[in-house]
Amino acid sequence: MMEYKATYRDKTVLITGGAGAIGSNLTGALAELGARVVVLDDLSSAERWNVPSHRNVLFVEGSVVDEEMLKRVFFERPEIVFHLAAFFANQNSIDHPEEDLRVNGLGTLRMLQYATLSGVPRFVYASSGCSIYGSQSPLPLKEDFMSMHLSTPYQITKMLGELYGNFFHHHYNLAVVKARFFNSYGPGEIPGQYRNVIPNFI
Ligand SMILES: NC(=O)c1ccc[n+]([C@@H]2O[C@H](COP(=O)([O-])OP(=O)(O)OC[C@H]3O[C@@H](n4cnc5c(N)ncnc54)[C@H](O)[C@@H]3O)[C@@H](O)[C@H]2O)c1
Repeated sequence: MMEYKATYRDKTVLITGGAGAIGSNLTGALAELGARVVVLDDLSSAERWNVPSHRNVLFVEGSVVDEEMLKRVFFERPEIVFHLAAFFANQNSIDHPEEDLRVNGLGTLRMLQYATLSGVPRFVYASSGCSIYGSQSPLPLKEDFMSMHLSTPYQITKMLGELYGNFFHHHYNLAVVKARFFNSYGPGEIPGQYRNVIPNFI
C-alpha cells in the first residue's frame, strides 16, 4: 500500500474527464498523494466546481477531440494518463450516436496517438464491464470474453476504445491498462437524465 502511494508522489498525471464522477474523485486522491494532476475536461456533462480545488491540480477546459487542447495538456509531459472522458452512457448514445462515436471513438484514438508521440509510460483506459460482456455472457465472466450481442452504440464505442488500446499496445508498445468499471456510485456523481443507475434503483 505504501509503495503504491509513493508511486504518485511528484508524478505528473493527466486525467481526462477529471470533472466527472470518477475523475473528480481520482483527481482529489492523486493530488493528495502528491501527484501534479492535469485535468482535461470540456464540462459537457460536469460542473467546474466538481474539480477539487487543490494546489496540485491544473484544470484545462477543452475536448479530447480538439488537437490544440491535446498539445496543451501533453506539453505538461504526463507520466501516467487516465483517460476517463466519455460521452456517457447507454441511452445517451442511442439518442446521439454520432457524438458518441466522435468522443468515445475519435477522442480515444487521438488520446492514444498523443500518448504514443509523447512517450507516455502508462495509459489507463476507462472501459465498461457492461459494454464488453453484454447481457448474455457465460458466467463466470472471463476477462477475454467480448460480447457480440451489443444493444447500444456506447457499448460499441467503449469496446472500440479497448480494441484501439490493444492495437497501440501491440504496434507501438504503449503500456495500456484497461479498467472495466461496473455502475459506480458515490459523491461527485451529478444527477442527470442519462445516469445515476444505482441511486435510481434505490
Ligand atoms: N460510472 C460508471 O458506472 C461507469 C461504468 C463503466 C464505465 N465508466 C466509464 O468511466 C469513465 C468515467 O465515468 P463517470 O461516471 O465519471 O462519467 P462522467 O460523465 O461523470 O464523467 C465523464 C467526464 O468526461 C467529460 N467529457 C465528456 N466529453 C468530453 C470531451 N469531449 N472532452 C473532454 N471531456 C469530456 C464530462 O464533462 C465529464 O466530466 C467514462 O469513460 C465511462 O465510460 C463509468
